[in-house]
Amino acid sequence: MEEQECYQHPFVHRVKLTTAQRIRGVILGSFLFPVRVTVAAILFLVAWPLARLRLAGLSEEERARPVTGWRHHLFQPIILALSRSVFFTLGFLWVKVKGRRADLKEAPVLVVAPHSGYLDMMVLCQTQLATVVSRSENSSLPVIGALLEFNQAVLVSRKDPESRKKAVTQLNERLTSNGYWPQMLVFPEGTTTNGQSLLKFKPGAFVAGVPVQPVLLRYPNKLDTVRWTYKGTTWVEALWHTTSQLYTNMTVEFLPVYSPSEEEKKDPNLYADNVQKLMAGALGLPATDYVMEGGVPVNKLGGLSLPVESPARSTLSLLYKSGLGATAVEEALDRMIDRCQSGAPGSKVGAEELSSILGLTQRETAVTVCKLYSKDETVDVGQFYLSVAALSGFLSFKSLLHKAFNLFDREGRGCLSAEELSGLMGALLGVPQYNTHPLYEEASHQDKLTEANLLRVLTTHPTYQRVVNEYLQPVEAGSHLPFTPLAGGRAMNNNRDVP
Ligand SMILES: *[C@@H]1O[C@H](CO)[C@@H](O)[C@H](O)[C@H]1NC(C)=O
Ligand SMILES: *[C@@H]1O[C@H](CO)[C@@H](O)[C@H](O)[C@H]1NC(C)=O
Repeated sequence: MEEQECYQHPFVHRVKLTTAQRIRGVILGSFLFPVRVTVAAILFLVAWPLARLRLAGLSEEERARPVTGWRHHLFQPIILALSRSVFFTLGFLWVKVKGRRADLKEAPVLVVAPHSGYLDMMVLCQTQLATVVSRSENSSLPVIGALLEFNQAVLVSRKDPESRKKAVTQLNERLTSNGYWPQMLVFPEGTTTNGQSLLKFKPGAFVAGVPVQPVLLRYPNKLDTVRWTYKGTTWVEALWHTTSQLYTNMTVEFLPVYSPSEEEKKDPNLYADNVQKLMAGALGLPATDYVMEGGVPVNKLGGLSLPVESPARSTLSLLYKSGLGATAVEEALDRMIDRCQSGAPGSKVGAEELSSILGLTQRETAVTVCKLYSKDETVDVGQFYLSVAALSGFLSFKSLLHKAFNLFDREGRGCLSAEELSGLMGALLGVPQYNTHPLYEEASHQDKLTEANLLRVLTTHPTYQRVVNEYLQPVEAGSHLPFTPLAGGRAMNNNRDVP
């Protein structure tokens, strides 16, 4: 049995091989990988024009409706057969199906979990190519783009909140179309994981309040090769390890259709949570509050988004590693707060300037720090100061909050708006906040949020107290690593511990 660390969060997976498995993989893989990938590529190339043909010559308007008639009857079976052949080629020789797939009238949407990687798409062959939800970025990929067009997929952009709203509307429309649109298939976790727990379900599939059929995916193999997550094994490695097995087991289990109660119909989040718990129970896995939000893995608590890999924690350990001692870090933070107070609110600095404020000798470290906070190699000085100071232990939470409050209370009114609170919490936690509304409600009085009230709620309210204790306080040395294996954590590989 391979050993596998049990990570604190579900966004990382690494294939672990024994020496014997590695040797076997190299021997089989050097033959199977090229042959399988070549055949799969040829099948894809055949599917490409055929997928485009299905909608060829249709107007924009006609494409916005489900394709029917000869186009459907001719191309559907061809693409289905080609898709199955691709997966067969890659080693999915057979797929075990448990339970019965509900038809469109019983459940307009199939909710599938856990989401492990792109090879999960195999489930589409068991569901007559049900319509999927995908990222709009994918529609410009060769072949995949054509297949998504063929599928008449609902497209959603990760970056654009408008497109998310549009996708939810579109999803809603399709799910309530009374059989006009074909059945949909949704991965409600919205991203892939190591399969050791279920992420919080996105409410999209549950907004329409129609019955759903939960579908469980399992890969009961000696080696867990199909996963491709945020960190760890790359997609090429996943493909290599999967194709270098003689075959790969997969089980698709259709659970009974779940019909929402009146309460769940009114509250898509409650509906989503209940289905998540039901599926987690059937898998024997914990149901968590982890989600991927704007490309950042976070844990949700009281509406707040808590980073699973704290940029501030990584920054602190980088600073110490680069040779700065505690005093030097404290002085650097003092220079930083001066810079915050003198500069315009929300001002950003690049690696050059950050390097000089911090007194770093290597620019590389500053570049790495910038990348932890943003994609554009700059860092918001206020956010840097507050998030790092919180974990540094150089000042009490009370004085930290006082500094934060003054930075965000730009006009010195003695209170913060809902938007300013969102900025403040984002700066303290080091990641953007999308829902500080519950905290604002809790801490404001007659629509006024004062420092005293904010401090009181953050230090006494059971939920927010936890946030402060676990995310805004120094951590003992040694746990500065981005992924800390749980104490005594041993593998619970979901592929094996499920009957
Ligand atoms: C879409 O692209 C993303 C990467 O941008 C990838 O993670 C995902 O698996 C792709 N989905 C499909 C359906 O190809
Ligand atoms: C596939 O599943 C069977 C049991 O159903 C098991 O004996 C076999 O070892 C599995 N194959 C792999 C490659 O893990």
